[in-house]
Amino acid sequence: MSTNQQIRLRRRPIGAPTPDDFSIVNSPMPVVQDGEVLRRTVYLSLDPYMRGRMNDARSYAAPVALGDVMVGGTVSEVIESRTPSFAKGDFVVGMDGWQQFAASAGTGLRKLDPRVAPISTALGVLGMPGLTAYVGLLDIGHAKSGETVVVSAASGAVGSIVGQIARLKGCRAVGIAGSPEKCDYIERELGFHAAVNHRAPDLRGALRAACPNGIDVYFENVGGAVLAAVLPLINRGARIPLCGQISQYNATEPAHAPNLAPLLINRALIQGFIVTDHADRFGAFMAECGAWVRSGELRYREDIAEGLENAPQAFMGLLEGKNFGKLLVRVSADPTRAGIAPSVR
Ligand SMILES: NC(=O)c1ccc[n+]([C@@H]2O[C@H](COP(=O)([O-])OP(=O)(O)OC[C@H]3O[C@@H](n4cnc5c(N)ncnc54)[C@H](OP(=O)(O)O)[C@@H]3O)[C@@H](O)[C@H]2O)c1
Repeated sequence: MSTNQQIRLRRRPIGAPTPDDFSIVNSPMPVVQDGEVLRRTVYLSLDPYMRGRMNDARSYAAPVALGDVMVGGTVSEVIESRTPSFAKGDFVVGMDGWQQFAASAGTGLRKLDPRVAPISTALGVLGMPGLTAYVGLLDIGHAKSGETVVVSAASGAVGSIVGQIARLKGCRAVGIAGSPEKCDYIERELGFHAAVNHRAPDLRGALRAACPNGIDVYFENVGGAVLAAVLPLINRGARIPLCGQISQYNATEPAHAPNLAPLLINRALIQGFIVTDHADRFGAFMAECGAWVRSGELRYREDIAEGLENAPQAFMGLLEGKNFGKLLVRVSADPTRAGIAPSVR
C-alpha cells in the first residue's frame, strides 16, 4: 500500500447530506514513528451523531473542520508496532475515522480478543451503541420488571438492544420501526412483545393497542411525529431517556414542538444523556451484555457496506432508515471471519 484513502468533509450540508459534501482523497501512507502503532481499518462504524459533527454549531463535541477526515469509530488490525503496548496482528477499537490507515501512540485504543466475540461487535452490540442502550434504559430510564418499555428506531443499533434488555429484565418490550420487515424482525427474531410501524396510518391507535397498560419508559431516539404519538400514552411517573432525535438531524427549520402536557399531568421525567459521560458503566455493561450475547439471548444484526468509497452513500441512507441493523463499512478484509457472510446472529 502506498496511499491512504480518506473521506474528508468538503462542505457543510444544508439539510440532507449529498455526495458533494464529501471528498475522497488519496493521501500518503502515515509514517510510523518510534513509540507509535500503525493500523489498517477493518470496519468503520457509521452513526447518526456524525451528521451533527458536519455542522458548525454548538454541541457536546466539536465539529469536524472543513477538509478534515470524517470522525468515526473503527476496528483495526495492527500492521506495524514500535511500542511494546501493541503487537503486529492485534485487533483494536478506536476512533481512526473514515480512512484506511492511521498511526499514533495508541492512546484511546482498546485491544479486542476475537475469540470472545466477533471484532465487529465492538462497534455495535458490545460497543458504543450497546452501552448507550444499557445506560439509557437502566440508569436513566430505571426500567423495572413488569413495566412497559417503548423504544423508537427499534430495529437499529441502539433500539434493538434496548428492547431486548427490556425483555430480559422482565419488561413488556414494544418497538417502533419504519417497515413491516423491521417490525417482523424485532418481534420474531428479537422477541419484542409487539411492534408498530411508524409509517402506517394511525400510529397512536396502533401504539395504544400495543401498550394496553400505558407506557412507563419511552426510550426516545427519533423525535417529531413519533414522540408526539407516544406522549399521550405515558403513565404517571413515566421516564423518558432522551437518546436521539434523528428525524430532526437534517432539518432546516425549527421542529414543531409536541404538546408537553402529558409530562406535567403524569409527573414524568425526560432526561437527555450522552453515552461518553457513562464510560464508568462499561465494565458492568460488558459483563451482563457480553454474557447474553455469548448465550444467544441478546441477538444483533449488522448491515455492512463494502468499501470505504461507499461510506457517504451508506451514511446518507442511515438518515432515511435505509439501514437494517448496525451500519458498518468493511474497509478491508476481516481476517477473523474469512468466508463468513454477514448475517443475523
Ligand atoms: N445519546 C447518545 O449518547 C447516543 C449514542 C448513540 C446513538 N444515539 C442516538 O440513538 C438513535 C439511534 O441511533 P443508532 O445508531 O441506533 O441508529 P439506527 O437506529 O441503527 O439507524 C437509524 C434509524 O433511525 C430511523 N430513522 C431515520 N430517520 C428517521 C425519521 N425521519 N423518523 C423516524 N425514524 C427515523 C430509521 O429506522 P426506521 O426505519 O425504523 O425508521 C433508521 O434506520 C439516534 O437518534 C442517535 O443519534 C445517541
